Amino acid sequence: ADSALIDGFGRSIRYLRISVTDRCDLRCRYCMAEKMTFLPRNRLLALEEIAVIAERFIAFGVRKIRLSGGEPLVRRDVVELAHRLGGHVGRGLDELTMTTNATRLAEHAEALVAAGMRRVNVSLDSRDPALFRHITRHGDVAQVLDGIAAGHRAGLAIKINMVALKGLNEDEIAPMLEWCMAQGHDLTLIETMPLGAIDEDRTDRFLPLTAVFDRLSSRFALTRDTNGTGGPARYWRVDGTATRLGLISPLTANFCDGCNRVRLTTEGRLYSCLGHEDQVDLKHALRTGGVAALDDAIRLGIAGKPARHDFRIERGAAPAVARHMSVTGG
Ligand code: GTP
Ligand code: 5AD
Ligand code: SF4
Repeated sequence: ADSALIDGFGRSIRYLRISVTDRCDLRCRYCMAEKMTFLPRNRLLALEEIAVIAERFIAFGVRKIRLSGGEPLVRRDVVELAHRLGGHVGRGLDELTMTTNATRLAEHAEALVAAGMRRVNVSLDSRDPALFRHITRHGDVAQVLDGIAAGHRAGLAIKINMVALKGLNEDEIAPMLEWCMAQGHDLTLIETMPLGAIDEDRTDRFLPLTAVFDRLSSRFALTRDTNGTGGPARYWRVDGTATRLGLISPLTANFCDGCNRVRLTTEGRLYSCLGHEDQVDLKHALRTGGVAALDDAIRLGIAGKPARHDFRIERGAAPAVARHMSVTGG
């Protein structure tokens, strides 16, 4: 049998995040600049290549695959990819899931469920139409809420991802949690991370989740829930409801010791850490040396996985890494 992937710090890699496109129909201010240059389509991995690479990871013990981006649903063949990978759920893979902005979820929800998807994470930083438009620059919140409702109807469990932004959506956090409780969704709050150049200084918007959590816990009865999802969030159950509150606090509570993930980019590069430039070119390995070379390249990438990121939010500082979240798939 193929042996498992264990990095130089003894961490088992069980979670592969795949960015299927670096493109997005929105331009969230903390994520992207207004003017972005995207990869030319001829540099992207073909669907078949993504599937072959993902299947090698499954053979090496990866249990969870997330399709991400950019916005994964802007890539035309992503549902086909979901079908192919969904065939492994229950046969090696525990979960195939997606992180989406939901602008096109209404259109694709049923097909994703048919492919074997049970749960999606939806980025929603505000339910207020004007503020949503401001943060995303182009977004129509009604379309996203329709997408979420359609996903839920189709049978997808929904987790809302909300990046906590000082002076923008901080007063909406408690109402967002209440809305999630009423809808039966989970909510995960995320600290803004210094990835890629944007048009503003992230320092102005950084909101430490330590303070946010203190405020929430005086208003809601929260009980720590140690059942994780295999991602970086710590969870609390909102007592008496089906809703869980998650916190992703890379700046105020580093979680790299428990890291179980690596990332495949649109271009076929394996990034072993979100916060570093370390990468191996899996596309090149596969195209020149076939699956044997691919396997070697995967092992090389895992062996070189850095201990932790070194994110800091400092005024005037360049981002910790130059590439945007959308390139590496979060
Ligand atoms: P679950 O399966 O629901 O646990 O999802 P997830 O949190 O793994 O995935 P999602 O795409 O919803 O990511 C939420 C946030 O966590 C995004 O901002 C990701 O960039 C961030 N994130 C995921 N993994 C890491 C990581 O290893 N390091 C850091 N710093 N952030 C991460
Ligand atoms: N810092 C924190 N979260 C980010 N996201 C995108 N860019 C950043 C950033 N710089 C979030 C999106 C989405 C998830 C994949 O990552 O809102 O929910
Ligand atoms: Fe697009 Fe997500 Fe980035 Fe917003 S956060 S611009 S929806 S990739």
